[in-house]
Amino acid sequence: MGDARGRASCVLGIETSCDETSAAVLQGDGSGETFSPGLRLRSSVVASQVRLHRRFGGVVPEVASRRHVETIIPVIDQALRDAGVALSDLTAVAATRGPGLVGAILVGLSAAKTMALALKVPFIGVNHIEAHMYANFIEHPDLRPPFVCLVVSGGHTDLVYLRDHGSYEVMGRTRDDAAGEAFDKVARVLGLGYPGGPAIDDAARGGDPGAVRFPRAFLEEGSYDFSFSGLKTAVVNFVRKTETGGVPLGIADIAASFQEAVVDVLVKKTVRAALDKHVSTLAVAGGVAANSRLREQLARGASEAGLRLVSPSPALCTDNAAMVACAGYFRVARGEASSLDVPAVPDLDLE
Ligand code: KG4
Ligand code: ZN
Repeated sequence: MGDARGRASCVLGIETSCDETSAAVLQGDGSGETFSPGLRLRSSVVASQVRLHRRFGGVVPEVASRRHVETIIPVIDQALRDAGVALSDLTAVAATRGPGLVGAILVGLSAAKTMALALKVPFIGVNHIEAHMYANFIEHPDLRPPFVCLVVSGGHTDLVYLRDHGSYEVMGRTRDDAAGEAFDKVARVLGLGYPGGPAIDDAARGGDPGAVRFPRAFLEEGSYDFSFSGLKTAVVNFVRKTETGGVPLGIADIAASFQEAVVDVLVKKTVRAALDKHVSTLAVAGGVAANSRLREQLARGASEAGLRLVSPSPALCTDNAAMVACAGYFRVARGEASSLDVPAVPDLDLE
């Protein structure tokens, strides 16, 4: 495993931390520290397990691991085929090593280590949250640190100051539910099914975001932490009232009002964090970053504050291996490689 610094790169990324089996090939000129890394996403394959878990109303870890085992090799083959690259063209293999479901992570991680060992190329173990943030570099080649990034997914709500590549400060995080978790739970209460985020996004389109003033938890003055459990309870109580005939409101209005409460807090804190750190750019990442109202309001908040907003296209917000390849790409470009001993860590810390 020689020093890959500065060499043209063709990185295979693998992601299996939850319920998507994904592989992608990302090509670049190897200059990960320079202004224009010239990244090209050659392929991105995502095999979703959503249908498999739907009847359980959420992801069942053991079921997810088993499906990853069945799917991982065909998905990798497909990614290589779509990219038109041979195994011998790969210069590094990156995979998510945490946080996530340990049995699920192990499938992609073992595949990546095995391939790196056989191909004699560097292996990179990637943090899933870091990977979400790095989705932003794929489509914005002029993006450079420092910037502030809001990471909103099913498991995380983190406000991160990305000082430089590989150097992060978590300014705030959720104290209870993650934003995506709140979307999923409220969707269940509203009978909108699983996964809840996209269902609420759709339902809210026909609703009035001002119909119900649900509580917004801004927490202590200056805090960048989040809390969504109070909001979730407020929605549950409200829905009970509507069911007993007390309130004549439809699902669209409740969905839109809930979504507005989440978005309101996320946008205000993210803009304030960017101003606080004196950065000119803010970014967003993670599954909830696909939310149309969040994207709209972040764009508005950023523009009012004179900030540039960058966001991945929706397909690169939800779990995918392109983002893992990208985080791996920048590490390889800096001459980094992981040991083949690195374990899967379900609660892996970003800092
Ligand atoms: O990043 P992700 O794919 O997986 C995790 O790392 O957790 O995020 C999944 C989460 C789920 O909670 C899902 O409901 C939410 O992202 N999500 C959305 C939307 N699309 C996905 N939430 C709100 N609006 C959406 N359009
Ligand atoms: Zn994720």
